[in-house]
Amino acid sequence: ARTHLNLGFASNRWTSDVKSVLDHLRTSNRSSLTTTARDSKSGRIFRNTFSLLQDASGCHIGTVILTKEIAAPRYVGFAAGDCRADLETLSRRLGGLLVECLETLSDVLESREPYTLGHSLRVRDLAVAMARERWGASMDLAAVSLAGQLHDIGKVAVSPDILTKPGRLTDEEWSIIRTHPVVGESIMQPVARLGEIAKAVRHHHERFDGSGYPDHLAGNAIPALARILAIADSYDSMTSVRPYREAISPSEAINEIQANAGVLYDPDWVRVFLKLMRRNKSE
Ligand SMILES: [Fe+2]
Repeated sequence: ARTHLNLGFASNRWTSDVKSVLDHLRTSNRSSLTTTARDSKSGRIFRNTFSLLQDASGCHIGTVILTKEIAAPRYVGFAAGDCRADLETLSRRLGGLLVECLETLSDVLESREPYTLGHSLRVRDLAVAMARERWGASMDLAAVSLAGQLHDIGKVAVSPDILTKPGRLTDEEWSIIRTHPVVGESIMQPVARLGEIAKAVRHHHERFDGSGYPDHLAGNAIPALARILAIADSYDSMTSVRPYREAISPSEAINEIQANAGVLYDPDWVRVFLKLMRRNKSE
């Protein structure tokens, strides 16, 4: 079987190059190879790293291609495919690899935006702390952790010019930014076991009263993970400087979230958040 899994934002311009590299990799003993390719139309230069995936017996089960545009220091896409093993093995291996790629991508995304440096990891840590507070440490919090870390991954589709624009954004620019939860979900969709996380990513800007986006969900129709993320994300955003506004103090941000319990945020999770913040303060 030959399968090509498009992970959502891969360039297909260098398909013929991909084939010759894969043939070369298969006949040599190397497990990875880096090539540089220039797109003749746009003149953009890409560095592609091809890595072979092997199962425990050394059998080739697939290939991951990570593409980085050289002139602009950011990853522009990656793809995986060329499946020769059973789909279940492949999807497990690809799932693990996809998560690693997405974590790398998230780091790269943040590093191009000084304003959000560390934001994903802070949201992850706060979301995990809230979930642990309410559900207990014995619960598996891996999904909360990954959803927190990757919630803004869809910003890969938003130009850095918009993300770092000083001053007010136009309505059109806001509408481009507002595509990021749906883009984020679509990036994760190929991996079935990321389903719950993909949903949390899609809905992290929904608000408890239905005033959020993209689907205007309200109350418990919003997935629990997304209701946790909404609070953790808002708190960290409010306490960080953004290109279009100053930061507010942690205590002001806490008051803001408390004042919006049951309006913008799930009141039960706000209680958990407040308890956590009070304890952190007294420690
Ligand atoms: Fe977001």
